[in-house]
Amino acid sequence: MMLEVKNVSVEVSGRLILQGVDMHIRKGEVVVLFGPNGSGKSTLLKTIMGFEGYKVISGEILLGETRIDGLPVEERVKLGLGLMYQHPPQVRGVKLAQIAGRLSGNAGLIKEMSERLSLSSHLSRDINMGFSGGEMKRSELFQLILQDPGLLLLDEPESGVDLENISVMGKVLDGYLKEEGKSALIITHTGYILDYINARKGCVMIDGKMWCVGRPKEIFENIRERGYDKCMGCDDRAQSAR
Ligand SMILES: Nc1ncnc2c1ncn2[C@@H]1O[C@H](COP(=O)(O)OP(=O)(O)O)[C@@H](O)[C@H]1O
Ligand SMILES: [Mg+2]
Repeated sequence: MMLEVKNVSVEVSGRLILQGVDMHIRKGEVVVLFGPNGSGKSTLLKTIMGFEGYKVISGEILLGETRIDGLPVEERVKLGLGLMYQHPPQVRGVKLAQIAGRLSGNAGLIKEMSERLSLSSHLSRDINMGFSGGEMKRSELFQLILQDPGLLLLDEPESGVDLENISVMGKVLDGYLKEEGKSALIITHTGYILDYINARKGCVMIDGKMWCVGRPKEIFENIRERGYDKCMGCDDRAQSAR
């Protein structure tokens, strides 16, 4: 098992957001996470990363054999976790090329990835400063791939990205995930990314609870046709959540 989230409840600013969440990701597996706005998806990813303010009040999180809840973010990154933010931070005074060089000693890979993600001319700019929404997402994916994590956490990678660039990002991501043992947890609203990656498992989060598990494309079609309201009243829930 790559990641195990066991009965995890999380408080943010004194508010209970995640309520007994269970989920797991096997080594080499790509899991897609769906759910309406405000259901707690980003909170789950930030909790797995160990960001300040995301307080695990019960349950445990395991990465491989190691219990990681309680470890600082840097330790989790060393163990192979990498996050692509929903809203990437801007970093004044640090060039994209500088961080790229720090993340990877492989100049060939930096060149190849910056070209594939159309970021060659961004390397000399401050990270994400003045980048368009799509450029920021490509820059995040670029940095993540150079970091070479075993488990990628992607928070709406295609939001704000045009269709052509979703295709570019989707192919880069798929190539990376085909490497031995790479796993990912991907949040998507649009479902576009599903056309590029081989994801066999999807789950739906509603009101801070893991609602059901199934095939990502089937879940997505159901949500698109019937909306999350119907999802909430779904009879299959008790069965599929197991
Ligand atoms: N720092 C915070 N302080 C207070 N509430 C927060 C904070 N971060 C998230 N929340 C709340 O937690 C809930 C879940 O948010 P989030 O995980 O971002 O949802 P999603 O990613 O599914 O849209 C929301 O109601 C949001 O307002
Ligand atoms: Mg979110």
